[in-house]
Amino acid sequence: MIAAMKKPAPLLRPTHPDDVPALIALQRRVYPYIPHWTEKKFHNQLEVFPQGQIMVELEGRPVGCAGSMIVSWDEWAGPHTWKEITASGTFDNHNPEGHTLYGAEVFVDPDLRGHGLGHLLYEGRKALCRAMNLKRIIACGRLPGYHKHADTLTPEQYAQKVVWGDFRDPVLGFQLHEGFHYCGVIEGYIPEDKESLGNASLIVWLNPDYDPARPTLIPEGAPS
Ligand SMILES: CC(C)(COP(=O)(O)OP(=O)(O)OC[C@H]1O[C@@H](n2cnc3c(N)ncnc32)[C@H](O)[C@@H]1OP(=O)(O)O)[C@@H](O)C(=O)NCCC(=O)NCCS
Repeated sequence: MIAAMKKPAPLLRPTHPDDVPALIALQRRVYPYIPHWTEKKFHNQLEVFPQGQIMVELEGRPVGCAGSMIVSWDEWAGPHTWKEITASGTFDNHNPEGHTLYGAEVFVDPDLRGHGLGHLLYEGRKALCRAMNLKRIIACGRLPGYHKHADTLTPEQYAQKVVWGDFRDPVLGFQLHEGFHYCGVIEGYIPEDKESLGNASLIVWLNPDYDPARPTLIPEGAPS
């Protein structure tokens, strides 16, 4: 009898400093024309908020990652760029006093999209939000399908059509599917993002378990 072939399971785990070179190489493949992180900045992210940096490994190889920090959203709710809120990608604006987990990055190997890896990373982010007793996750997501409609629609009109189910945007569609709510467009968020023409959609997920009477917690087992 031939033994059934076992499909390798992806492993969601914290990002470690050793993973940095491989994840930067992957990020370069994901965004050929958006400046990638430097090793120094990535190491800084891991130092300022290690709990917020997670990745997926498949057969020993990094295949996706998600980077987050905590912010006091009142300070950032107005128009801002990715560079400003992430302090040029260092995450030095991480503020443990805040109640909002800010999703600064998520990407999956282009050859492995549509296999649930992005979902795994988003589940990891939600688990962190719940474990820390944070109020919500906010992110500004790229709108990579916008350039195809830019001659006839504003970014807001395009995003609305994605929400209404008329268009399928590779990023906003995924985020809505993951239970996030669309709150509007931020212009000039990543000026180098030619596909989105710099635009991003502001999205939010509210933590149903958030208890304002309880403090923010550091998850057990996570580095302090
Ligand atoms: C966005 C991204 C992370 C999604 O990762 P992924 O691994 O392909 O997503 P998954 O396969 O986990 O999808 C999870 C679910 O969302 C659904 N989904 C994915 N893309 C979708 C879309 N465009 N519209 C609607 N639903 C979508 C999937 O069908 C799946 O649903 P299911 O569990 O019911 O089958 C990935 O496309 C990516 O890396 N994009 C490039 C980097 C990028 O721009 N990141 C955003 C930075 S703001």
